[in-house]
Amino acid sequence: MLKQISSIEEYTNSYKMSISQPENFWAVIAENFLWKKKWTQIFSGGFEKADYKWFEGGKLNITENCLDRHLELLGNKTAILWEPNNPSEQNRKISYNELHEEVCQFSNALEKLGVKKGDTVCLYMPMIPELTIAMLSCARIGAIHSIVFGGFSAQSIADRILDAECMWMITADGCYRGNKPLYLKKIVDEALEKCQSIKKSIVFNRSNFECPMKEGRDLWWSDVIKNCSKTHEAITMDSEDPLFILYTSGSTGKPKGVLHTTAGYMVYVAYTFLNVFQYKPEQIYWCTADIGWVTGHSYIVYGPLLNGATTLMYEGIPQFPDWGRWWDVIDKYKVNIFYTAPTAIRSLEAQGLKSIEGKSLSSLKVLGSVGEPINKEAWEWYHKNIGKEKCPIIDTWWQTETGGILISSLAGITPEKATYATLPLPGIEPIIVDVEGAEIKEMIAEGNLCIRQSWPGQARTVYKNHARFIQTYFTTYPNKYFTGDGCKRDNDGNYRITGRVDDVMNVSGHRIGTAEVENAINEHPVVYENAVVGFPHAIKGQGIFAFVACQTHPKDILSFKQEVLDIVSKIIGPFAKPDRIEIVSGLPKTRSGKIMRRILRKISEGEFDKVGDISTLLNPEVVEEIMKKIRN
Ligand code: WT7
Repeated sequence: MLKQISSIEEYTNSYKMSISQPENFWAVIAENFLWKKKWTQIFSGGFEKADYKWFEGGKLNITENCLDRHLELLGNKTAILWEPNNPSEQNRKISYNELHEEVCQFSNALEKLGVKKGDTVCLYMPMIPELTIAMLSCARIGAIHSIVFGGFSAQSIADRILDAECMWMITADGCYRGNKPLYLKKIVDEALEKCQSIKKSIVFNRSNFECPMKEGRDLWWSDVIKNCSKTHEAITMDSEDPLFILYTSGSTGKPKGVLHTTAGYMVYVAYTFLNVFQYKPEQIYWCTADIGWVTGHSYIVYGPLLNGATTLMYEGIPQFPDWGRWWDVIDKYKVNIFYTAPTAIRSLEAQGLKSIEGKSLSSLKVLGSVGEPINKEAWEWYHKNIGKEKCPIIDTWWQTETGGILISSLAGITPEKATYATLPLPGIEPIIVDVEGAEIKEMIAEGNLCIRQSWPGQARTVYKNHARFIQTYFTTYPNKYFTGDGCKRDNDGNYRITGRVDDVMNVSGHRIGTAEVENAINEHPVVYENAVVGFPHAIKGQGIFAFVACQTHPKDILSFKQEVLDIVSKIIGPFAKPDRIEIVSGLPKTRSGKIMRRILRKISEGEFDKVGDISTLLNPEVVEEIMKKIRN
């Protein structure tokens, strides 16, 4: 088993060694896993061609490390605690033994259907244990899972299936989010009309929703597992064999299929889970994210299971049946470690303290934050009212591309500082560069955040597009990994992430490219151009502001705006709907025709005096017009 860092001295020593001798450092950690064959080379390659590899020559299966390895000692321990959307429905407790059996059985079912090593499988499911079972089964047979978050539209699912060339689909009839039914299978059916590559679609019956099944394509989960054995020999994977694809937004074009491979990801998420959360055996851990995002992949499923932890999965939303639900769940299961996003903290804070009245919350030991910068007010509210001033707060900074947490305090071990993610984890060397790309060596610094060396959990490529991978992350600043985030460093070496410096928005912790929303809005027949920017939003962190120019001024403005919202919902998903739409006669542009988003950003922030010199623009009058409109 992995050894946990348990003092600041140990952290400092580990950190020093990890930077001076990264290969030895990671080899010692990697020894703690179950390998079918040890690696022959710890590390090779570099950032120039983005051809870095970890633990090459090693053979393993990640699910043997998540499951089989624990059975002897922890077989009867609860692996997954599942809390349904509706508190009156029966909850579920799944032990490591049971989870192992279910995964083996579903792995056999997938193989029987013809799913093979290297095939890509699209998953679009509610937050139910079968999602975890399906993803682990893919990993067990060497298929690559590509999970699409349940809030995405049919069009987005189709785009992802086509890009990843998925041959298999796993979904469910639907589920409830609060009182609202969500018909997942219907959405998938619409997506599959465009995706002839899908051979079979497996449907789990979660809710008994009426659910037409397409002959020859759709199969019920309960049918495919019939007569399948509950033992299964895991397929042997190479360290660098792909484990999963996860789509994420960038500043240009369509979302990228970020690819993670097997051994490095495994070692990194296991190590970071154990140390950042300071997980102790017998503790109950709850991450409120959806498995459809990387937080769920790494810190609901893989990280906890690799450590033999008990991970809680909640199907519903924080406000159902009322805003006290999360606190009820914490008390019901005596949750010790709680990991959520600032946007959720702010929505809960907005409800006042009555939702916490009568809740004990005394089981809590560690509180975590992820997904966006946490503002001081939310940090203090969380610290005081949820942590009762006795729980350390870890502000964990990382990305889909990083696989796991890169900058965070270790709960209760290294110092915390409100609004700072604080110190880098062992193996991570952050550097701050100025706009020219020069490294700022002074301790107190502000600039763009890069990472100097590879770490095992780092994404290996953009699926089928390595050139785009290199272009996005390794060319702005040669020989460094560019995160896309801005940051500050204080005198003690603590990092504070200030937000994206590219055209990526962070809306309620969801990463959305401005270009994606713009492309969707452009589909409206009367829109001839539009620009989208993020603006400060009290609850969501950032809201979406769309400036829309039309061929003819719409007669009915309200219904036009509704149509724009509907189009964004249809093309991306409801979570990407603009919070504000302003109809304008044109967009501010430079003489060479580039849209001046910077100006629109200032306007959307209400900082009219900071738009700067507009006299050199192609159309300064448009800026005046927009400012006048927004002021009113
Ligand atoms: C972007 C990555 C990390 C998993 C969930 C999001 C922002 C993330 C923090 C934090 C400030 C943060 C960054 C990053 N971000 N965590 N603790 N403090 N900003 O993963 O969807 O890939 O988004 O989220 O801007 O680049 P993602």
